Amino acid sequence: MAAITYELIKKDKTTGARAGILHTPHGSFPTPIFMPVGTQASVKGVSPDELKELGAGVILSNTYHLFLRPGMELVREAGGLHRFMHWDRAILTDSGGFQVFSLGELRKITEEGVIFRSHIDGAKKFLSPEISMEVQMALGSDIVMAFDECVPYPADYDYAKRSTDRTTRWAKRCKETMTSENQGLFAIVQGGMYEDLRRKSVEELTTLDFPGYAVGGLSVGEPKEIMYEMLAITVPLLPENKPRYLMGVGTPDYLMEGVLHGIDMFDCVFPTRVARNGMAMTWQGRIVIKNAVHTQEFSVLDSGCGCYACRNGFTRAYIRHLVRAGEIFGLRLLTLHNLYFLQDFMKKMRAAILEDRFGEFREKFYRSYRR
Ligand code: GUN
Ligand code: ZN
Repeated sequence: MAAITYELIKKDKTTGARAGILHTPHGSFPTPIFMPVGTQASVKGVSPDELKELGAGVILSNTYHLFLRPGMELVREAGGLHRFMHWDRAILTDSGGFQVFSLGELRKITEEGVIFRSHIDGAKKFLSPEISMEVQMALGSDIVMAFDECVPYPADYDYAKRSTDRTTRWAKRCKETMTSENQGLFAIVQGGMYEDLRRKSVEELTTLDFPGYAVGGLSVGEPKEIMYEMLAITVPLLPENKPRYLMGVGTPDYLMEGVLHGIDMFDCVFPTRVARNGMAMTWQGRIVIKNAVHTQEFSVLDSGCGCYACRNGFTRAYIRHLVRAGEIFGLRLLTLHNLYFLQDFMKKMRAAILEDRFGEFREKFYRSYRR
């Protein structure tokens, strides 16, 4: 049996939204799903038990960071990433492509791979499709991402085309290198903001046949209308019996629109990063806990929320005090709340799809949610 299989449970009648189950060697989880990000083998400030408690079935980690530190040999020696970090549910690892390309002038792209300087000590390093696969096999993640180039925004047609063609050639090399039977390799669709390149990318990658497909190169600074347009073009071309993953998306409105277009999986540093900046996500929109309006607010972050912070009655006034005083616990409470909020958000979208009321759910959400 294949390492990764997608079970389609229900398709919405009027939109592209769907509910399913993704089966992995480290358990199954319902889709649509949001994956908390644990870049350096830790979801910042949160223990594996806490992640389980808030309902996470899969987390994301990064090849780029773990390749540089502590290195693949150490993780291999530890018995793989699951054992190393004490997480026995599913793990998806990004390939390093995106992170390397975010380095700007510190990198050089060739057909073979990418030469770059480590952000840690400036040492010269090299990543290629083959090396990325070797590292991800050592990590032992359940879902392995192909080594791609995320086409920057804006990019002219010629650049986007050459880059996307190379991503396809790299995906083929990834497939040839990935020999592990208990890991599933997902290809990443690119194409910039060009319709025909998106189509070509999907056609070529689906011909190669992968157990799952990601839509990459979106949420990179383009207007949201363009992102939605790219989703509308790309997602319907992807095979129905395979999972679809929209990379780097994690704000509620983008998640809602992603699900509407038929996306099953998402990841983003947003909920954890903004928590560490004192921001809480709620059904009404974001709140900045340091603001004076919360000084004497003895209510929880979001009424009805079942997270550790809200369930136990930690008030906005208290969390505001902790954040202002530089107490780590305040940032932890916000992180736990934001991660719970997104798990709950996905769960409620899934329930709405299953009960044939996704359209109403979406409208109701936008009536109360402020961007
Ligand atoms: N994370 C967000 N976007 C991307 C992308 O296009 N490629 C990869 N590898 N990771 C991403
Ligand atoms: Zn809460």
